[in-house]
Amino acid sequence: FFCLIYVFWLLIIPSFVLMLSKVQTFKEDFFMVAKILDGKQIAKDYRQGLKDQVEALQAEGYTPKLSVILVGNDGASQSYVNSKKKAAEKIGMISEIVHLDESTSEADVLNELKRLNEDDSVSGILVQVPLPDQVSEQKVLESINPAKDVDGFHPENIGKLYIDQQTFVPCTPLGIMELLNHADIDLEGKDAVVIGRSHIVGQPVSKLLLQKNASVTILHSRTKDMKRYLKNADIIVSAVGRPGLVTKEDVKEGAVVIDVGNTPDENGKLKGDIEYDEVKEVAGAITPVPGGVGPMTITMVLNNTLIAEKMRRGIE
Ligand code: GUN
Repeated sequence: FFCLIYVFWLLIIPSFVLMLSKVQTFKEDFFMVAKILDGKQIAKDYRQGLKDQVEALQAEGYTPKLSVILVGNDGASQSYVNSKKKAAEKIGMISEIVHLDESTSEADVLNELKRLNEDDSVSGILVQVPLPDQVSEQKVLESINPAKDVDGFHPENIGKLYIDQQTFVPCTPLGIMELLNHADIDLEGKDAVVIGRSHIVGQPVSKLLLQKNASVTILHSRTKDMKRYLKNADIIVSAVGRPGLVTKEDVKEGAVVIDVGNTPDENGKLKGDIEYDEVKEVAGAITPVPGGVGPMTITMVLNNTLIAEKMRRGIE
C-alpha cells in the first residue's frame, strides 16, 4: 500500500509541475503583452528629483530660468512652449516665453537672442522650431550661446555629441535614453533600428544608442524595403510622424518599441507611428502616445536648464 502511495506521488508531482509550466507558457504565448514604458509616470518621478535640486540651488541664492523664443502662431508649437513653461514653473524655475510676430525679421529674432544670451538672469534658451521662412533656422541656432543651448542644437554642441564629449544633448533623444535606462533595457550588442534621420531626433538618438554599444541602422524615406530591417530589430525607434507606419507584422517578438510620432488625427487625438494596440501584443516593451516620449522630452528641457544653471555657477 505504501509503495503504491509512493509511486502515486512520484507520478503526480512531476505531472503537476509540468502542467503548471505548460499553463505558464500558454499564457505567455497567447497573452504576451508588452511592458508599457509609462513616460508620464517616469517623468513625474524625475521632475520631483529636479524640483529638489532646484530648491537646493535656491537655498544658495540661484533660481534657474528658461527663456523660450516662439515666432509665429503655429498651434502645435504654441502648445509645446506653454507646456515647457508650465513644467518649468511647477518645479520652481522661472520661465518666460518671448512671443514674436509671424512676420518678425531675422535681424529682430537675432537681436532678441543676443539680449537673452547676455542677460545674466537667463540660464537656458530654447528657440522653438520650425521658424517662418524669412528667418534662417541655421543662423538662429548658430547664434545661441552654446552654454545656454538647452536644446543641444548649436553646431558646437552637436559636434561635441558626435565626438563623445560631455555636452547638452537634444531633449527627445535624451528622454528616450532615460526611458530605456529606467526600464533597465540593456542595449549592449543589440540591433537598433531608428526610423527618421532628423537633426532633432533620428540622428542624435542613433548616436546615443551607438554610445551604449548598440548596432544602429537609420532608415529614411529612400530606404529600400524598410520591413526587412524592422523584423530583425531588437530596438525600434520611430520618429517620422506617419501614423500606422509600424504594424504587428513588422516587429520581432520581444522587441522594444519607442514611438516618437505625435500626429493629430481628424478629431485632434494624437497618433504615434506605431500601431500600438496590435504591436503591444508582440513587443517586449512599448511607449504609448500620448504619455510616452512626450513627457520625457519636456523633462529633459528642465534637466538641461538645471545643468546650464549649475555649470555657470560652478556647481557640480
Ligand atoms: N520643435 C519640435 N521639437 C522641438 C524641440 O525639441 N526643440 C525645439 N526648440 N523645437 C522643437
